Amino acid sequence: MRDRLLQLEQAAIKEIGFVKGKEAVIEVKIKYLGRKGELASLTKELGKLPPEERPIIGELINTIRGRIEEKINSLLTGFIHAESEQRLKTEELDITLPGRYMSLGKRHPITQVMDEVIRIFSGMGFTVAEGPEVETDYYNFEALNIPKDHPARDMQDTFYISDDYLLRTHTSPVQIRVMQTQKPPLRVIAPGKVYRRDSDVTHTPMFHQVEGFMVDDSITFGDLKGVLTSFLHSLFREDISIRFRPSFFPFTEPSAEVDIQCVICNGTGCRVCKGSGWLEILGAGMIHPMVFKAVEYNAEKFSGFAFGLGIERIAMLKFGIDDIRLFFENDIRFLRQF
Ligand code: DAH
Repeated sequence: MRDRLLQLEQAAIKEIGFVKGKEAVIEVKIKYLGRKGELASLTKELGKLPPEERPIIGELINTIRGRIEEKINSLLTGFIHAESEQRLKTEELDITLPGRYMSLGKRHPITQVMDEVIRIFSGMGFTVAEGPEVETDYYNFEALNIPKDHPARDMQDTFYISDDYLLRTHTSPVQIRVMQTQKPPLRVIAPGKVYRRDSDVTHTPMFHQVEGFMVDDSITFGDLKGVLTSFLHSLFREDISIRFRPSFFPFTEPSAEVDIQCVICNGTGCRVCKGSGWLEILGAGMIHPMVFKAVEYNAEKFSGFAFGLGIERIAMLKFGIDDIRLFFENDIRFLRQF
């Protein structure tokens, strides 16, 4: 047994001396030291030996296993090392290659315009308020002096949830909510989503408005003109022409619609301004005494102006977009351009 073990060691060491690569070393390792290898089969014969010889031969098996293992492992380390040396010599890293493109997210064009409007009014001392998108008939219509038979209340125009609840059709109800809970002086804007049953190239069932109002003891139409002129100059161009046209809203008296000189044709007349050279951009007016009555403000003591504008319309004009639905299709090719 002893001789056969030593012979096996000799044979293994000889074979190891000839191997030329990593894979071959592993093969030799399996052949001699594997679970079904030669050393293992000799070990199985241990039981046939007389009991007093077993520990001695057992120890010899372990020693031989250790010696073969050591030779194989040092050879393996050598091969692995040589392999990586070789790789370092032949592989090249071209640091002039262009980097991998990381696509960056951007703010939605509607959000960009919304942020810009908020930024300009914040600069004039306005604070931001919000109200619910599911409103009551009272806040959306009644308190704003919109009578029961007003066309805006029509089922055709308003998304009703029940007789009393609806999706707000404008941001004006936030005026009521703020005035109910705060006292003048007030300078507030209320941005948000509004809903109307309307859908074509310039209307979507959901769109965004910014409401604004200012209340104090001596606010005049002059303040309204000053604030809105300053806002529109900031938003479009400092030298753009602006005009105020008489109009009607149930919650303001007097009321006005504000036009800017057409930003597409610079006022010479085009398809977008329908040849007039002007674009209607917002609605405004002096807060109606009936509205003050609804929030229990003394209309003899306080006065104020209010206005409302549509964000999509402004974004379409600023970016030259002719179909409002593009904003909500979320086509990445469209959104990337802003
Ligand atoms: N609420 C109006 C609308 O949705 C816009 C508006 C007009 C708001 C005049 C106002 C205002 O505050 O004074 O069409």
